Amino acid sequence: MDDLKAKYLGLIADAGDESAIEDLRVQALGKKGEIALLMRGLGAMSPEERQSAGPALNALKDEINSAIAARKASLGDAALAERLRSEWLDVTLPARDRRSGTIHPISQVSDEVTAIFADMGFAVAEGPQVESDWYNFDALNIPGHHPARAEMDTFYMHRLAGDNRAPSVLRTHTSPVQIRSMEAHGAPLRIICPGRVYRADYDQTHTPMFHQVEGLAIDRNISMANLKWVLEEFVKSYFEVDSVDLRFRASHFPFTEPSAEVDIRCSWEGGTLKVGEGDDWLEILGSGMIHPKVLKAGGIDPDQYQGFAFGMGIDRIAMLKYGIPDLRAFFDSDLRWLRHYGFASLDVPTLQGGLSR
Ligand code: PHE
Repeated sequence: MDDLKAKYLGLIADAGDESAIEDLRVQALGKKGEIALLMRGLGAMSPEERQSAGPALNALKDEINSAIAARKASLGDAALAERLRSEWLDVTLPARDRRSGTIHPISQVSDEVTAIFADMGFAVAEGPQVESDWYNFDALNIPGHHPARAEMDTFYMHRLAGDNRAPSVLRTHTSPVQIRSMEAHGAPLRIICPGRVYRADYDQTHTPMFHQVEGLAIDRNISMANLKWVLEEFVKSYFEVDSVDLRFRASHFPFTEPSAEVDIRCSWEGGTLKVGEGDDWLEILGSGMIHPKVLKAGGIDPDQYQGFAFGMGIDRIAMLKYGIPDLRAFFDSDLRWLRHYGFASLDVPTLQGGLSR
């Protein structure tokens, strides 16, 4: 029995993994194991022999069991120690530099414009980009036969044969938000609506998707003088100049009467735009007094209220302020070259970049 004990304790101590230990356990203590066989032999012994052999066998069994448990525990400790040795992490290593995102110049200019008008008490309104042709045209006094419909190169939404719902369009301007805002809030009203608009057009200064900001002020005695003041304040603030000359040039829009295009005094000395000085004039937007029919379409009584409206291309004023020659550049995937044009936000590191630099 001492041989048996020495043999198993030795084997257990040398066992290299859990499955080797399990094999040894079966070999020693299993139903057909060596100890079980000896146990079975007890029956053939004399009572005296049995009295000493029985407890000794039980003690051996216990000893093997606890040797197994001890070996398992030390194998576990070794595995943990090995993991601790191999899986360590150097937290002092500098982080990898990530490509950091930046604000798109159009978003930045939209924010600038919104902030300037917010200072003058204009709230921001939004509307859908897929618009009914009623909101986009009819309500704005552009009936079905009106040439403006063709001029605007409208994208119509596809309709299945037999679908007789009124046609939907990708809005060609932000003006439909005028009507939606009048319906939602009534008068008095003072809002701007920045957003995406669509026209089938593509060249250096036109992309099929571009951005406008609409402005609208309605009250009992709003006049073109108010329009002029608001636009002057806007131009001074946006182009960061102390004074500006503004020129109303008679024009025509179906939704305003009278209508005016607005030019600002500028110079192009050396190819760069200077606002507020020089002998040139630069067209920056369309505007006018809201047509009575448009007020009516929005549910506002034109005998009680009147107002001005204007619409401005955000992409265009971004190109002007930052001297960008080709509109299509805004929609390239890689905008890093725009840094050259002084878009400050492009160089503001994000938290990621800031931490790792
Ligand atoms: N909706 C006009 C356009 O897209 C701009 C405009 C808006 C003109 C409001 C006058 C008043 O060209």
